[in-house]
Amino acid sequence: MNFTGIPEDFIWGVATSAFQIEGATTEDGRGLSIWDTFCKTPGKIHQGHNAEMTCDHYHRYKEDIKLMKQLGIQSYRFSLAWPRIFPQGKGKLNQKGIDFYNSLIDELCKNDITPAITLYHWDLPQSLEDQGGWRNRETASIFLEYAKTCFAAFHDRVPMWITFNEPFCSAYLGHYHGCHAPGIQDMQATANTIHHINLAHGLTVQAFREKAYKGKIGITQMLIKHRPATRSEQDKKAAQRATDYSSSVFMDPLFGKGYPKEFLYSTPEVNLPVQKGDLDIISEKMDFLGINYYAETAMAYNQNDPEKPQGVESYYPKTEMDWPVVPAGLYRMLKWLDEKYSSPEIYITENGCALPDTLEADGESCHDPDRISYLREHFKMCKKAIADGIKLKGYFHWSIMDNFEWAYGYSKRFGLIYSDYKSLKRIPKDSFYFYREVIAGHEPLE
Ligand code: FCB
Repeated sequence: MNFTGIPEDFIWGVATSAFQIEGATTEDGRGLSIWDTFCKTPGKIHQGHNAEMTCDHYHRYKEDIKLMKQLGIQSYRFSLAWPRIFPQGKGKLNQKGIDFYNSLIDELCKNDITPAITLYHWDLPQSLEDQGGWRNRETASIFLEYAKTCFAAFHDRVPMWITFNEPFCSAYLGHYHGCHAPGIQDMQATANTIHHINLAHGLTVQAFREKAYKGKIGITQMLIKHRPATRSEQDKKAAQRATDYSSSVFMDPLFGKGYPKEFLYSTPEVNLPVQKGDLDIISEKMDFLGINYYAETAMAYNQNDPEKPQGVESYYPKTEMDWPVVPAGLYRMLKWLDEKYSSPEIYITENGCALPDTLEADGESCHDPDRISYLREHFKMCKKAIADGIKLKGYFHWSIMDNFEWAYGYSKRFGLIYSDYKSLKRIPKDSFYFYREVIAGHEPLE
């Protein structure tokens, strides 16, 4: 019996990324990534934290998989560290990197957990950055070679492939705001990055098709679909404009719609370096779309600067990230995707919240009722979307355990499991047990 109201074949999972959990950054021939460099740049990471050890998953993956098994998930989404496989980004392959991921994948399979691989979760090899990183068109072809190597090595056991995680963050946070690696602040660099990542994605999907691999391939987007603050036409336009800027530049070309005109008008100083044939490559058909959903914001017309829509205050409670908790925004987003892109299958590849979690005095438990209600409310929206006929096929929680949260270091806890960074002990939080009940089908999501 399944009491959730969510179909039996729905995939429940958890997600992580290599840089955030692996540690062992100098072991077994791993090269440097832009995030290793960024961590060493003064003032970039909260209290100068780094990911040299983080959860030490590189050595403890068996223990972590045991916990996943206890949780009862069907699939585990993780990323491959490109600099473990090609320490210089290209050229000489590091067999030890391949060996590590082979062991991880085999251990998952042994435990009946399906591996879902993200090829790029932000850790670009530093040597490629030294040659212009994503600003350089050649990086797209180098990525393709890396992707082909991974397909050949792991395709026999991996049915789900994600080319990129959140190109938005690589482009805007890494190249416009400068708060993520490589820490550049330049709009033209951002535009180049947007286009070259889109291109690398398309080339990779084509290569996957050429070999006729059995699995599915898609991309993970962090879409910011803003809602208009009021019903006024001006606010609607402002929300649309902000959405074009943050999301449609990634989504429209994937779905054969080219780049949004509004984006091009509103940034006349930049030029997207599109060459003949690129848009056909980028729109190579995917099998699924992954979305990471954390929050939704309302946008209003900005009287002082009509070109720049402004966010407005709302009544929603906020997480430790200061992100408003808006479960209904997930439903609105799924509807929007369905209407605008008649999307193929959709997976929520990340969703979760950072809370001020603390261990109880016994050191063995952590009560996080707010995460449980966060989960419940978002699951209800999944259920509602499925009932509407939207092809939502799975959900991966971010994250299985607390980990290195980029520029916030270890100050934000997103896990279902509490990470004690001193002892490296993993302590399941109450939400871990709640999620287990949902996966087992016991929780009526009402
Ligand atoms: C997403 C990232 C993920 C994690 C969560 C909180 O944007 O993909 O690595 O940091 O946010």
